Amino acid sequence: MDDLKQKYLGAIAGAGNEAALEDIRLAAVGKKGEVALKMRELGKMTPEERQTAGPALNALKDEINSALAAKKAALSDAALDERLRTEWLDVTLPGRERRQGTIHPVSQVTEEVSAIFADMGFSVAEGPRIDTDWYNFDALNIPGHHPARAEMDTFYMHRAEGDNRPPHVLRTHTSPVQIRSMEAQGAPIRIICPGGVYRADYDQTHTPMFHQVEGLAIDTDISMANLKWVLEEFVKAFFEVDNVDLRFRASHFPFTEPSAEVDIRCSWQDGALKVGEGDDWLEILGSGMVHPRVLQAGGIDPDKYQGFAFGMGIDRIAMLKYGIPDLRAFFDSDLRWLRHYGFASLDQPTLHGGLSR
Ligand code: PHE
Repeated sequence: MDDLKQKYLGAIAGAGNEAALEDIRLAAVGKKGEVALKMRELGKMTPEERQTAGPALNALKDEINSALAAKKAALSDAALDERLRTEWLDVTLPGRERRQGTIHPVSQVTEEVSAIFADMGFSVAEGPRIDTDWYNFDALNIPGHHPARAEMDTFYMHRAEGDNRPPHVLRTHTSPVQIRSMEAQGAPIRIICPGGVYRADYDQTHTPMFHQVEGLAIDTDISMANLKWVLEEFVKAFFEVDNVDLRFRASHFPFTEPSAEVDIRCSWQDGALKVGEGDDWLEILGSGMVHPRVLQAGGIDPDKYQGFAFGMGIDRIAMLKYGIPDLRAFFDSDLRWLRHYGFASLDQPTLHGGLSR
């Protein structure tokens, strides 16, 4: 009996956790434990033997049970201490500076442009960045051998041999959304289409992916005068100035006739751009009256409808408005740059609340 006592009190003292302790309890004082087996032997003893062995076994059982209870309490105290240690929190420490993401200038300017055109009754349309060469070129009156295809430094999608789908390109401009919108909604139309476009080009003012916003207005009585008014209103609102001088320069795009590139009057003072005054001109967009063949490609009758279209670089006007010198930094994901040029996430640009604040 002394051996049993030594054995179990030793095991209890050495138990590392409550599960181990429970195993010991079953082996010692459980229904089939060693002490229970010993108790069963009492029946085979003489009454005298039983008189000493019985109480001794009961005492042993009590001793083991109280050692188990004490150890169990000690183990759970230790577990609680450990938990308190690891979950300790010094509430007297100074608060941590709140890190907050910012809105990228491209997103900000896209929102600003959308707010301005929404105010003039334009809605926002979108199209795929990977499009067929028909939408990106043919439908826009740029046939297969037209030099504009080469000029645009197009990225062509790889085609496996035997693939019969039409050739796909990374769209080189947002103009294919003109065609998709005409197909989807017919005339009249008043939309802008902001989004990413791709050209194989890379320097301080060119990146292989950049952003444009397309504008398209089609109705039965649209003229260049409407185009001019809309663009003037846009430029005044966007650059937050009362007066602008726009210069329409004759140009050429296959999908507009006539075509014009639009410059704004500006000045450069100590490297900073001022819009609306000075003797410099800055090109900001391409535009024109939608070519009849483009209307036709979009399923619109050119004898009944006509319209204007324009395309503008979002990154470019963002650089101009916010004095950002290098386009490549737009896409470097440099946190210092993003914190410097980013916008507060809760300042949604609106015409009444202020576009850029
Ligand atoms: N798609 C032309 C470009 O990317 C811009 C443009 C759009 C010009 C619409 C005229 C009309 O350069």
